Parts: sequence; structure tokens; C-alpha cells
Amino acid sequence: MEEKLHQLKNDFIAKLSQAKTAEEARNFEIEFLGRKGKLTAILRSIAGLPDADRPKAGQMANTIKLEMELAMKDRMDAMEKSSDTAGIDATLPGIIPQTGHLHLVTQAIREINTIFEKIGFYTVSYPEVEWDWYAFESLNMPKEHPARDEWETFFIDKLPVGPKGLRILTPHTSSGQVREMEKKQFPIRMINISKCYRRQIDVSHVPMFHQFEGLMIDKGVNITHLKGVLDYFAKSFFGPNRVARIRPYHFQFTEPSFEVDISCGVCLGKGCNLCKEGWLELGGAGMVHPNVLKAGKIDPKKYSGFAFGWGVERTCMMKAGLQLPDIRILYQNDLRFLQQF
Ligand code: PHE
Repeated sequence: MEEKLHQLKNDFIAKLSQAKTAEEARNFEIEFLGRKGKLTAILRSIAGLPDADRPKAGQMANTIKLEMELAMKDRMDAMEKSSDTAGIDATLPGIIPQTGHLHLVTQAIREINTIFEKIGFYTVSYPEVEWDWYAFESLNMPKEHPARDEWETFFIDKLPVGPKGLRILTPHTSSGQVREMEKKQFPIRMINISKCYRRQIDVSHVPMFHQFEGLMIDKGVNITHLKGVLDYFAKSFFGPNRVARIRPYHFQFTEPSFEVDISCGVCLGKGCNLCKEGWLELGGAGMVHPNVLKAGKIDPKKYSGFAFGWGVERTCMMKAGLQLPDIRILYQNDLRFLQQF
């Protein structure tokens, strides 16, 4: 009898440990401890034992029964615990994985490229480390010319002077103009976007920034084409109710030269607190100077063209209507700022 009971208990524990679900465990419970179960059958058989053996056998059977019930409880507890941690609660809100996005300056660069592609311009990217010739001399700014002052900044005088002079971190994307002319493929409809460098750092200037330069050269290109392209850009980038305006200015490499303004998005040119006079200044433009065409080995009697160029950072800030107290925040990698765009 004793052996039978121990065997029964061991079988039960072995089966329980294999149970994968609470339901399986409960089925084993019924099989062993239920009213018609294996233990009940043994208990019943105790009645047929001789009087002398009955009390001992009954006691032992009760102990075994308790041990089996305890084993059942432990198994159920263990299963409940593991389902707490490993189980999935489909009612909990999901965890959204962090995704990155492009920096707002990169977004603006891509948008500008797409806008100009639609009217037949193609994108190039000329070197950030440029020869003096392309950055100045070919642009009608001979050595010692005072017009260089604003842009004459980071010369790399450790590198040898080549036939095109010293090398410089390019101060403007206009250095791509003559490079593009050298390709001799007409019409030229270039957008050159590149990093530029200047000796400047304060709340509205960073020493490294981006410019984009448009250059169109063909037979019979005139100022109305320039104005049309500027208006097209103003509407495409800033919104359909915006227009461009050109004002007389001076650059060595364009004649005539202009400053380009965009009508204010708040007052649409009437004048308001944001813009004061109705217009926001964007950058420079003009008809390519004959000396620049000659530097690019193009005959100014046959061909003419226009150029324009200005900063991407400034342009994208004007679009977003951002009045940043400090433009340097663009490059401080502060996610609290960057994630807003
Ligand atoms: N390169 C000039 C600047 O950096 C802008 C400009 C480009 C002006 C093309 C005229 C034509 O200020």
C-alpha cells in the first residue's frame, strides 16, 4: 500500500511538471485527485484492508493526498508567475520605436533641388576647397581687389600654390560658375549647392553654412528670364501668393547686379511688424559679367546668362517663419529643437 501511494504521488508530480498549460495541469488533477481519480480508488480500497492495517494506511493516504494537493498548487503558482512576465498583454499601448529624420537644412536642400529640376535645372556640387582662380580671379576679382575683402577668409597656405593660385575654403557657390562653363554644354542650367565658409560667427552667422547658386547661360538670355525664375522659386518654395523683387546692387561678377527680396508672407508686401517694409531680403543675383564669360572661354557676344545665389539656412528659416534668437542652434544637435521639423 505504502509503495503504491508513493508511486502514485511521483507519477502525479512527474506529469504536472510536464504540463504546459493550466488546463493540462487541471486535467491531471482530475485524473489523480478527482472523485473518480486514481487516489480515490486507492482510498476506497483501504476499506477492504484488515482492521489492524486500516488506520495506518488511512493516515498515510491522507498525507500523500495533502502532498499532491500542495504540488498542484505550486505548479499553478509557478505557471501564473511565468505568464505574468513572458506573456503578452495585447491591451497595453505599444512602444513606438524612435525614428530619425533629415535635418531641416537637408530637407530644404532637397526641396530646392526638386523645384529647380522641374524647370530644367540640374544639380551639381563643386568642391568646398577651391582654387583662388574659381573663387575670385575668374569672377572678375583680381588679386588685391577690395571686393575680395568680404570673402577672403580661410586660405590654406600649407598647400603648394598651383597655376590657379592658392586654395581656399570656398566662401561662396559662385566659384562653381566658371567650372560649369568649362564643360561647354549649352544651355547651362546649373544649381550648385555646397558648403561655404566665412570668417563670421554671431547670433545670425555661422562660419560654415550652405549656399545654392543658379546659373543659366544660353543665347538671348535676359533679365526677364531671371525675374521669371525668381518668381517661380518664390511661389514654389514660399507659397503661391509670394513674389520676388530685384533691387540694384553691386557684385564684381554680375552686371547689372541685384539684391533679391521676397514679399513678406504675413502682410504680402504691405509692411508689418515682422518685415517692416513688406519685403524680406534673400540674396544676390545679376546678369553674368562679360569678363566672367570670357574667363569661362565663352564668347559674350554670342551668349549671355544670369546667376543668383544665397544661403540655404536663411531661406529655410524664412519659410518656416522662424525667428531664431540664435542661428547657431541649427548646428548644436539639440534634439529638442531638431525634432520639431
Ligand atoms: N556669391 C554672392 C554672395 O555670396 C551671391 C551672388 C551669386 C550674387 C550670384 C550674384 C550672383 O553674396
